Amino acid sequence: MRRKLVVANWKMHGDLAQNKVLFDAFRQRLDHLTSADIAVCVPYPYLFQAQQELQGSHIAWGAQNVAKHEVGAYTGEVSARMLKDFGASYVIVGHSERSTAYCESDENIAAKFVVARKSGITPVLCLGETLAERESGLCHQVIASQIDAVLKTVGAGVFAHAVVSYEPVWAIGTGLSATPGQAQQVHAFIRDRIAALDVHAAETVRILYGGSVNPLNASQLFVMPDIDGGLIGRCSLNANDFEEICRAAC
Ligand code: G3P
Repeated sequence: MRRKLVVANWKMHGDLAQNKVLFDAFRQRLDHLTSADIAVCVPYPYLFQAQQELQGSHIAWGAQNVAKHEVGAYTGEVSARMLKDFGASYVIVGHSERSTAYCESDENIAAKFVVARKSGITPVLCLGETLAERESGLCHQVIASQIDAVLKTVGAGVFAHAVVSYEPVWAIGTGLSATPGQAQQVHAFIRDRIAALDVHAAETVRILYGGSVNPLNASQLFVMPDIDGGLIGRCSLNANDFEEICRAAC
């Protein structure tokens, strides 16, 4: 049985004062919720604050992006080894808000996934289709292309105990979540595609759902057999909402 995982993606929000209020609330409200894993992925400048405020806590923390290279003359980039050195546990890779804005190819994202795993931190590989792709019946084709970019690079074994997040682009920040049935169908497709090459990896990979998860829909989503938790944007900036979502995973 896979433990549920709920990851907060704060995106480009927060400041030291606001973060302190949230970190304190998370420790007070979530530290005792030990039947699920919880993590917060913060903007780079706040990694130190996360390290300090969550020290000794059951709540893990991480970043929202990572370089695809391990080391070298890549001005402005942050390596997976640096994140590991700093004590980060997770890093989000391939979020559609980045892949769209910075033209990140499936291959580049796969390289980030691999370099993160190699460094010892857990990548959260984001997959998802646009509304136009879904309406054109291309959802599976798009998801397959994204997952195959990793499978072709290093095989399916790299997915063992890894984390993937299905985030339909049309559900991100819109308030229009995929229905539990829609999400389950894609999650099962992802798991089956990995299982075709490595059953252990397919059974142990945790597949999160992201895209307008809130306290009202979290339970119906998380009860689905192939939904192992959530990647939460807007509602992770509100302690009440995020607590309710984490409780739904316990
Ligand atoms: O990475 C999670 C994020 O994209 C979902 O955002 O605001 O729809 O929960 P939101």
